[in-house]
Amino acid sequence: MELPEQVTVYEVGPRDGFQNLARFVPTDSKVAFIDALSAAGLPAIEATSFVSPQWVPQLADAHEVMQQIRRRPGVRYPVLVPNLTGLERAVETGVQEIAVFTAASETFNRRNINASIAESIDRFRPVAERAQELGLNVRGYVSTAFGCPYQGNVEAESVVSVTGQLLELGCAEVSIGDTIGVADPAQVSDVVGRLNDSFGLDGIALHLHDTYGRGLANVVAGLDAGVRTFDAAAGGLGGCPYAKGASGNLSTEDLVAMLHHMGIETGVDLGALVAATSALAASTGLRMASRAFEALRSRRRELIPA
Ligand code: HMG
Ligand code: MG
Repeated sequence: MELPEQVTVYEVGPRDGFQNLARFVPTDSKVAFIDALSAAGLPAIEATSFVSPQWVPQLADAHEVMQQIRRRPGVRYPVLVPNLTGLERAVETGVQEIAVFTAASETFNRRNINASIAESIDRFRPVAERAQELGLNVRGYVSTAFGCPYQGNVEAESVVSVTGQLLELGCAEVSIGDTIGVADPAQVSDVVGRLNDSFGLDGIALHLHDTYGRGLANVVAGLDAGVRTFDAAAGGLGGCPYAKGASGNLSTEDLVAMLHHMGIETGVDLGALVAATSALAASTGLRMASRAFEALRSRRRELIPA
């Protein structure tokens, strides 16, 4: 396999990780977590969502979070935005990058953002135009690209079509989401191959979940197919509240530990990342779902004299 020298790790823990929890993580803990992730060298940290607080109360403090984090030069802090209201709220906090999100499956999209795929694209058009006027970078998401919790199979052609529409709107990057973690490496190769044929892969990222333990295998398939940006959540937290069984984003610790072991650079300090997740676990009592995190945390403990 031809491996790249470098891969971009796009951290979604503070957004995707917290949105699905039964309880509200205090704003102070969110801010400390984001600051610690910045210090660990993550180049892009999706910090929160300016969605409806009725739909996702866990992130109702988006404004406060964006005002309180310490923005490091060179680090991107994108936020999720579903419509113009969300964009206006985000802009008030000085964001430089937004992410819009739709899906390859109609049923999921209706449940998640109360719109058909076509309606969501129409809704994003003025958002993308306004973002471009303001000089903001725009990312797009295609959820349920490998399977849907409501309608099962999703056609690869639908993924290609929705990705094309998001790129046409002006998205600099489109992240292809395995929302419920059902993809397998053969399917990843197939879908990424089709995207490559249609658009090339410079603007394509993979957003994998580890629900069935196939997250890292799917990363390897993505790498082999030419993907160079992978989303992950520190501690393996999270999932989408409107997709049953979507727990377990691919953990950033698992991803970074594997990439480094393969000789691929990420710019992330793995020890500092583990410390960031440990501090979050200590301040909130949250349980993490990451093999590398558990292994490295206990190794660190052994090194600390009792
Ligand atoms: P709706 O109810 O159809 O919206 O929701 P509406 O336009 O009719 O507005 C209803 C009320 O919400 C109004 O207030 C609006 O002002 C307000 P009222 O007049 O009743 O007082 N409102 C807002 N308030 C604050 N911020 C806003 C906003 N928009 C409307 N931005 C809507 C439509 C899209 C707003 C809603 O469905 C929503 O917010 N959904 C978000 C769901 C979500 O965040 N899901 C998780 C993220 S996606 C994901 O996790 C997948 C991903 O990780 C990739 C993967 O894994 O596949 C990205
Ligand atoms: Mg997700």
